[in-house]
Amino acid sequence: MGTEAFIVRPFRAGDAAGVRSVLAASYGAEATPSPTYDWWSFGCSTAISGFMVAEAAGRIAGVQPMEIFPFADGGKHLTGALLTGVAVHLDCRRRGIFSALVQACEQEAWRQNAAFITTMPNEKSRPGFLKAGYTDLGRRQLLVRPLQPAALGGKLFPVLGHLAGAAGGVAQAVIKNIRVTNGLTVRKISDIAPEIEMLAARHEQLFPGLRMRRSAEWLRWRFLESPLRKYHLIEARDAKGALAGFAAATMDDREKFKVCYLMDLFVGEKCHAAALLAALCELARNEKAEAVAAVVSSPALIDTLSHAGFWLVPYWLPLKKFYSVARFNPNRPAPAHWQKLAGWYQTLADWDNL
Ligand SMILES: CC(C)(COP(=O)(O)OP(=O)(O)OC[C@H]1O[C@@H](n2cnc3c(N)ncnc32)[C@H](O)[C@@H]1OP(=O)(O)O)[C@@H](O)C(=O)NCCC(=O)NCCS
Repeated sequence: MGTEAFIVRPFRAGDAAGVRSVLAASYGAEATPSPTYDWWSFGCSTAISGFMVAEAAGRIAGVQPMEIFPFADGGKHLTGALLTGVAVHLDCRRRGIFSALVQACEQEAWRQNAAFITTMPNEKSRPGFLKAGYTDLGRRQLLVRPLQPAALGGKLFPVLGHLAGAAGGVAQAVIKNIRVTNGLTVRKISDIAPEIEMLAARHEQLFPGLRMRRSAEWLRWRFLESPLRKYHLIEARDAKGALAGFAAATMDDREKFKVCYLMDLFVGEKCHAAALLAALCELARNEKAEAVAAVVSSPALIDTLSHAGFWLVPYWLPLKKFYSVARFNPNRPAPAHWQKLAGWYQTLADWDNL
């Protein structure tokens, strides 16, 4: 299907096999959801799907999933669109299919009154977004807290291992119903308490920025209902039993070592972050992870994590680069702080295939 004309249209249920084959050709069969699982129907009930496909010679030639989610900024509620995992069939590349898919998503997003479209492109799709005029928001910061510096250093990053050794003093806490610092009790949980929304609102005041709204429903969908991956959830309660902190993480076996990724973190007071993160490190160590990593945009959160023993991985290291780009609805004013990633609150929970 190399040179045929193509059309772009919304996804239909009958497209499943074609979509899967484009994804498998682009990302590899192992990274493609199982044939029994329609991942694009893995919708959040609070989101509107705007999945677009390109069809050429009766076959699916390209896919661009999009979800329109509730967002919040400084207490104001709005909607924003998130693009994930664009892929064009190998035989059909450089014919403008990706550009056409993204344009169709934009039209749908503006029709739904989304304030912006954002995505986290990789090196392959980023040039196309920039060419199309998307704002380059910058790069999210990768932070790492090694748990077994000696072992880690000997494997992939001698430099990381060395610096980790110098940082030293990994805090201790046990994931049982025991007290850790600040009079908090930290435990593993298997459900999201409704009070989480109050905690998320307090967290938003401490760590401001334009963000996808972390409602209890969204958190359940993101961390409890995912058929793709298992998430570990922990919560901290104060002496009176009130919810004081929440963290979500997932373990990932990378090429040479196992990493625990911090997906999300909420605290009611900044001083509670260290205790919660110490507990998370203990959980990660129990799971045989060699490091805990986070990827975040918020300067306040970067600061809090670095105070809790995480260190900032320099941008020049040859590791995956965490880009973010956005386009703003031409019919709505976009505040100046949306133009830079520092004005956004993004964590790994916002997507990034984890
Ligand atoms: C990235 C991808 C979707 C681009 O699809 P495409 O249909 O070939 O892209 P388009 O033809 O619409 O290209 C639009 C612009 O993007 C840029 N672009 C696309 N492919 C590029 C490449 N390989 N190298 C550099 N720039 C590229 C160019 O600026 C291009 O405009 P031009 O052809 O006029 O120079 C496709 O290469 C792909 O599926 N890659 C593998 C999956 C993947 O990594 N997706 C990204 C996930 S975040």
